Amino acid sequence: MKFDFNLWDIHIGNPHPFNERAPRIDNGTGRPDPERYHDRDFAAREWEQVFAKSWLLACPVSDVAEPGDFAKFDIGSESFLIVRGEDGEIRAHYNVCPHRGARLVQADVGAVNQFSCPFHSWKFDLEGTNTHITDEETFQPEVLCHDTDLTSVRCETVAGLVFISMDETIEPLRDFLGPVAEQLELYQIADMYPVQHRRSDWGANWKGGIDAFAETYHLHAVHPQTQGLMDDRTQIDLYPNGLVSRQFVPFAQPSRRYDDQDSVNPGIAMMLADAGIDPATFEGTAKETRAAIQKAKRKRSDDLGLGYERFSDTQLSDSTVYSVFPNVQIGCHPEAVFLHRFLPHPTDPNQFTYDTLILYRDVDAPGYSAPAWMGLGDDVDLSGRTRPEVVHTKLGDPPGLGEVLDQDSDLLPVVQAGAHSRGFRGPLWSEQEARLRHFHAELDKRMAQ
Ligand code: FES
Ligand SMILES: [Fe+2]
Repeated sequence: MKFDFNLWDIHIGNPHPFNERAPRIDNGTGRPDPERYHDRDFAAREWEQVFAKSWLLACPVSDVAEPGDFAKFDIGSESFLIVRGEDGEIRAHYNVCPHRGARLVQADVGAVNQFSCPFHSWKFDLEGTNTHITDEETFQPEVLCHDTDLTSVRCETVAGLVFISMDETIEPLRDFLGPVAEQLELYQIADMYPVQHRRSDWGANWKGGIDAFAETYHLHAVHPQTQGLMDDRTQIDLYPNGLVSRQFVPFAQPSRRYDDQDSVNPGIAMMLADAGIDPATFEGTAKETRAAIQKAKRKRSDDLGLGYERFSDTQLSDSTVYSVFPNVQIGCHPEAVFLHRFLPHPTDPNQFTYDTLILYRDVDAPGYSAPAWMGLGDDVDLSGRTRPEVVHTKLGDPPGLGEVLDQDSDLLPVVQAGAHSRGFRGPLWSEQEARLRHFHAELDKRMAQ
């Protein structure tokens, strides 16, 4: 069998600078030690070496749109408050009272003009400065000479996304994101807002989640229902320094593994309707729907002034998926953006929390809505006027994330169990899993430092 690094060409007939392949990066052919998926010492070092020294996606900028707006970001054993100050600056502080360590805030999002500790009512302004100490005269001045302000962390925004870092010396966020910063900016995420926010606890290591979401190789086996409307031939691009990668997942055309390449099946009909094409009058075959959708979305953009000139054709129809080291994946579409975060458990390497947020921007025009395949319920407010509550399902409960994600959450504990076996000597990744190798190579580099 002939081996080909470039896999498949999915952009035939659609040349565009955005689609150009990144120069190949060789991450070797090694087989990493599977202890990374379950060993407690590895997890503890990983927290120090990886999470404490990376930029971490905290919230979309729309969650802190106005002065006083805050968002809480919990990861591992830490909790952070991201808050917009009266001066318009977005800052981040540990969600910890300097008096006795109480968490200041329990809510996921909200608006305040100051933070007040629930334990003894110390108060802090939005910049984290202490403004009130209850019964201050009962403290020896030498005690209060120690810092009584909140501890702040680095906080920067790129492409409408707010990141924090516990590492004071980390490079600027834009450098960390490399070429992906500009690519994300095309989606104008700052104008989008959450329409769904779900969190669920899964019985696997967080990297098991990263691995499962960074390849389409498993679609035919785990999600066979996607085969009629989603191609698993993809283009994968790895970027230098190991921190980011991307993948195009063609939508609205059957997988090459799917027998019927001609009939417009119900999944593809749904995607035609999303683009404003009546499936009943569409005369082409399933192989022709992707191009028809690209054309229809261009026309809709021209009619409504959506500015899709900034996108390649494939960006209009496909999912353009980014990995941002260590624990973020971002699925980009002109209409909406999916943020996926894989949050390590504070102590147990066999659990993680999957946090998924759909960001959308409404367009006031007949027939324009969120694509049906996103699975947003009829009761979802697409206007952005109400920030949806975070729905959190606990371990053992079905996450209720829709058929595809529920299949993943069922499967991951099965993979996690096998990772513990003496008989498993580490993963053997194909080129379809090049993003996994890229991610683990960066992880290994940082763990060795
Ligand atoms: S712990 Fe916050 S005021 Fe005492
Ligand atoms: Fe999956």
